[in-house]
Amino acid sequence: LPLHALLNLDDIEKEGTKRISKKAWAYYFSAADDHISKEHNNRVFKDIIMRPRVFVDVTKCDTSTTILGYKVNSPIYVSPAAMARLAHPDGEHGIAKACANYGVMQIVSNNASMTPEQIVEGASPEQLFGWQVYVQNDRTKTEDMFCRINAMRDRYKFICLTLDAPVPGKRELDERGSIDNNEVVEAAGNPGAGKRPGGGGVGQQLFFGTAADLNWKETLPWIAKHTDLPVVLKGLQTHEDVYLAAQHAPQVKAVILSNHGGRAMDTTSPAIYTLLEIRKYCPEVFDKIEIWIDGGIKRGTDVVKALCLGAKAVGVGRAGLFGLGAGGQAGVERMLEILQTETTATMRLLGATSIPELGPKYVNTRKVERD
Ligand code: FNR
Repeated sequence: LPLHALLNLDDIEKEGTKRISKKAWAYYFSAADDHISKEHNNRVFKDIIMRPRVFVDVTKCDTSTTILGYKVNSPIYVSPAAMARLAHPDGEHGIAKACANYGVMQIVSNNASMTPEQIVEGASPEQLFGWQVYVQNDRTKTEDMFCRINAMRDRYKFICLTLDAPVPGKRELDERGSIDNNEVVEAAGNPGAGKRPGGGGVGQQLFFGTAADLNWKETLPWIAKHTDLPVVLKGLQTHEDVYLAAQHAPQVKAVILSNHGGRAMDTTSPAIYTLLEIRKYCPEVFDKIEIWIDGGIKRGTDVVKALCLGAKAVGVGRAGLFGLGAGGQAGVERMLEILQTETTATMRLLGATSIPELGPKYVNTRKVERD
């Protein structure tokens, strides 16, 4: 199908699926165990009810906002997701060019299939990138990467440290997909990733050599020794950990509420529940650090609900990869166009014309409130 005939993110996923290898599909689509978290991530948004206000002039609507103080056209961003070139030769650089055209942030995966230099080639200084890190057992590999990112600090404005996967989740689809097709994968931030004895799923290969000993006490000071870039902690799933993260401001400037798209541990909390916990138990953290979320975002209404509950930015993972599969850079642009158009329409139907106006008064969360 031509890209203009794809009308929503499910259409993009179907078209992307048709055009990529079975192995790539299995890696992208997969989630841990029984896919409970993956499905819950999306379903939870459907149980939040909108409370639109009418009789409001919505002729104009502005979705621009700031992320870590940088201006972006939209709070939507592309989450770090490994191995974009399994979908299309445009790879992470194609995603970067699409993000440039929509004025949105991109967080690049430690396990990107292109080098950090290639990905930002030709980017304007205004474009916002973050570099995601999986710390390696061989710390010199990660220290070398900090060094490279420091040298490109006019492009990569922060380090995103992913914490929800000290070990990979059990992704059976990915393991099955790799049984017939066991070509080795190579990752920018983990040279030698594909050397896992016995091969395994793409995920298992990429996690080979990744450290499981990170902790609150030692890891942030170690990072501070190697880079003074701000840190964004990804994969927080409880208000207790978000509270702890806020104690590490100003080094830590944001957290991403995420269960890794359901790919790490199954039956974990969708980000929205954690967001509601924060509102209840430690609302003061909203003034100390930014709260971003990802997981299961498919519609403009999902984006706007997260923003109403206090999220500053909202990420999409699989949608970027399937967009790339559906049509390279142009497919990612179509994905962003759809989500951005839906988000603007949702805001106008809600009676809100700018991001700062959004707040909890626009949503009824009774059905998803816990305890
Ligand atoms: C991911 N994700 C991820 N996260 C991360 O911090 N580093 C990584 O390298 C990857 N790699 C990765 C690969 C693939 C194929 C997927 C689908 C996901 C997780 C990602 O950043 C994000 O948290 C989820 O994808 C969000 O959920 P949705 O939007 O896919 O539902």
